[in-house]
Amino acid sequence: MYEKLNNLLILLCRTISTRKLYFTEHPKVKELSTDCIKQLREFCHEARLDKLFIGIVDGNLIFEGKNLVGPSIVGRQLILFAEKLHCGGFSFSDSTSIREFNSFLDLTIELKHPTESLKVSRELLLKKDIQSIEIAQHYLKPSGPTTRDQESIWHGQDSASSLQSPTLIYQALFDAVAQAHGDVAGGNDVDIDNTRSVSEYMLHFFTKAHFADLMQNIHYPDYDSYTVGHSVRVAALAVYIGHAFNWSEDTLLAVGAAGLLHDIGKCRTPDEILFKPGRLSKEEFQAIMDHSRVGAEILLAQKNSTPLDIAFAWGHHIRNDGSGYPHQPKWAVRHPFTSLLQICDVFEALTAVRPYKPILTPHMAYSIMLTDRGGFHPALLASFISTIGLYPPGNQVKISDGSEGFVTAVGDTIDRPHVRITSDQDGIELPKHEQYILNLSAQKNRGLHVEELILTGSQDGLLTA
Ligand SMILES: [Fe+2]
Ligand SMILES: [Fe+2]
Repeated sequence: MYEKLNNLLILLCRTISTRKLYFTEHPKVKELSTDCIKQLREFCHEARLDKLFIGIVDGNLIFEGKNLVGPSIVGRQLILFAEKLHCGGFSFSDSTSIREFNSFLDLTIELKHPTESLKVSRELLLKKDIQSIEIAQHYLKPSGPTTRDQESIWHGQDSASSLQSPTLIYQALFDAVAQAHGDVAGGNDVDIDNTRSVSEYMLHFFTKAHFADLMQNIHYPDYDSYTVGHSVRVAALAVYIGHAFNWSEDTLLAVGAAGLLHDIGKCRTPDEILFKPGRLSKEEFQAIMDHSRVGAEILLAQKNSTPLDIAFAWGHHIRNDGSGYPHQPKWAVRHPFTSLLQICDVFEALTAVRPYKPILTPHMAYSIMLTDRGGFHPALLASFISTIGLYPPGNQVKISDGSEGFVTAVGDTIDRPHVRITSDQDGIELPKHEQYILNLSAQKNRGLHVEELILTGSQDGLLTA
């Protein structure tokens, strides 16, 4: 039951952050909100409830006295919204209509400042004709001495949650970037602390084995959100490389957070230019190029931003020979982290699906990058290639014996990775307990090799894994 609830709440939070990026009538928002209502009804039906009550205590989402760890991490938007409403939780009736739900979503955008009181918030909901979603008072801590049981009801206990889920971490990262972009587009401050805490979450999750799982989740749900997906993937790549370089945890945290925000300037680039499939005019191209300067200016104006955040936004399109954009003054010194981010940025852009270009294999991307003289820091590019390999972790591959699987790690050489075999030589899918790791670098497996990299264009892996 908790898994269902986790998924429902993560979906709800994702719908709120997607609504921040688009209008109610946008197909993506429509699809998500319809799904929210469907899952809400299913959950209530199965749990034999006529309403779902989610409490909020000390910044955590609580259900029946249990602390919902996963959704609490991705649910910052819902928690902040509750703070603005002065409420201690939301109650969603199983008869909530799409119209009411959409009005609720609208309110998450429209309400810029906290209301005066819970009473005023309730009136606001009624004014919007939202009857099936109610807001509750804060939990009141029992007065006098409390027993341990009472304390745990107050604080919530950790439910068995899927903290290790790659879907969840992807969701948290996606949500943080979507929120930052939405905040800037709406004229608000960027919640940099949130980006940093999500980056920290990514770090704690990030072992080499997990990286492959995470990258498997990072596909593009659609073109529209590719800036957000791109930012997440670039940040994950940079942190992965930093891991391989044995950078300190503090450094990785800073790189991850700054990586997530590097394209923040794009939220000021008009959509019709950003998503234009055809050739760009000179003026349109200039508008795109402006995003680095604009991003750096946005971050400079935030009180919690770091010099690295600003350096990434400013310098990620400046090439190793100093050309590129914006114009780099002669006296400026380039930080090696920015050189690394630039490599991750270009690699990601070349290997991703975009409206204006076909998907390229890492092999093709490397040949473009290696022959681009003056484009990249040569030693860093070489390290990048040997760390990521020809078959980057998370990618699906076909082995020469006909079996298929997902790359879990780069092997001793860039063309001989470790692969989790998920279907056998006859193409029959293997159940989880029969799947195994094939180490192509091992002597006994020298007779086998990767035959094909299977490129999956726009697979929507969200919330289903
Ligand atoms: Fe960029
Ligand atoms: Fe970028």
